[in-house]
Amino acid sequence: EKGGYDYFMLKEIAEQPKAVADTLLGRIDEAGSLTLDEVRIPASVLREVDKVVIVACGTAYHAGMIAKYAIEHWTRIPCETELASEFRYRDPIMDPRTLVIAISQSGETMDTLMALRHAREQGAKVLAICNTNGSTIPRESDAVLYTHAGPEVAVASTKAFLTQLVACYLVALYLGQVRGTKWGDEIQSVIRELSEIGTQVEQVLETMEPVRELARTLADKNTVLFLGRHVGYPVALEGALKLKELAYMHAEGFAAGELKHGPIALIEEDLPVVVVVPSPRGRSVLHDKIVSNIQEIRARGARTIVIAERGDTTVAPYADHLIEIPATPTLLQPLVATVPLQVFACELATARGNEVDQPRNLAKSVTVE
Ligand code: F6R
Repeated sequence: EKGGYDYFMLKEIAEQPKAVADTLLGRIDEAGSLTLDEVRIPASVLREVDKVVIVACGTAYHAGMIAKYAIEHWTRIPCETELASEFRYRDPIMDPRTLVIAISQSGETMDTLMALRHAREQGAKVLAICNTNGSTIPRESDAVLYTHAGPEVAVASTKAFLTQLVACYLVALYLGQVRGTKWGDEIQSVIRELSEIGTQVEQVLETMEPVRELARTLADKNTVLFLGRHVGYPVALEGALKLKELAYMHAEGFAAGELKHGPIALIEEDLPVVVVVPSPRGRSVLHDKIVSNIQEIRARGARTIVIAERGDTTVAPYADHLIEIPATPTLLQPLVATVPLQVFACELATARGNEVDQPRNLAKSVTVE
């Protein structure tokens, strides 16, 4: 049932182009508009939404962090993303104009369930993004947008994450469509690029051998740091989470702009630092800033592992290892940038002799708070 792969995780990583395509299927019509009829919250209600709050845990939380950038940019509705386990304890402010999005692969995560119950008690509308039909979280929500990743068996989430991202982009674009905000050329071209993103994920998967080789050389390291900016920041957090879960290594993700506010003190000779570089087109200011971050850490001896868009010649001189990914619109980059980090963590875990599909101390769904 592992389909010829040694681990479910490898199989699920490989299934990502299909999972992404399946999650898009039937949701974009021929004219390039979104048809999310399954989102049973009436357009009239969505037009009145004045705040979006996303709640989730772990990997799903990282998807939610990325969704915040997309929702605010495409719809101009203020959006916050919060760990489900923290949410209700701060007495959050919500009302019937608040749209809460609860993201969960399993649909059974207790922290997320308690957060959405709290939200509904305050009168907020809840939309679930979920991978498991008929599970508790969608049953208790006002509406659900299912991710079509198929069953995810490995404890570490991979294909569910990519499909959560796709679902979040769809919701963001749909809100933009319903409300007519910035509904123009940019949105149309993003929808077009999103509908083709599976091919790009496929391209990334075809070029992973050097990443595996690199991972094997790092098996005796104690620490790996991950840096990113903008949507690359949650990608860095996700890369670090995968490495903790699977390789049992000390791994931390930072917003690259925070380096000089503390974390740069951690940089020492030969420390592996993975840096996710935004597109040099798009938000080029961010790109240039991260290039100087790479220079700074390299000057202090770090071993730089740089994930950058193919053809980005500016970073190559500062990359001890360069991992190239296809060009995408800035906001969609996490769909391709995360894949090498999944492969990296999986290979490191294998090299360290760890059980990839069943990491120690972890359960696939966390049904206690
Ligand atoms: C990470 C991982 C966990 C889950 C988290 C939420 O690889 O699997 O961090 O993402 O426990 O689970 P769901 O999405 O089922 O609510």
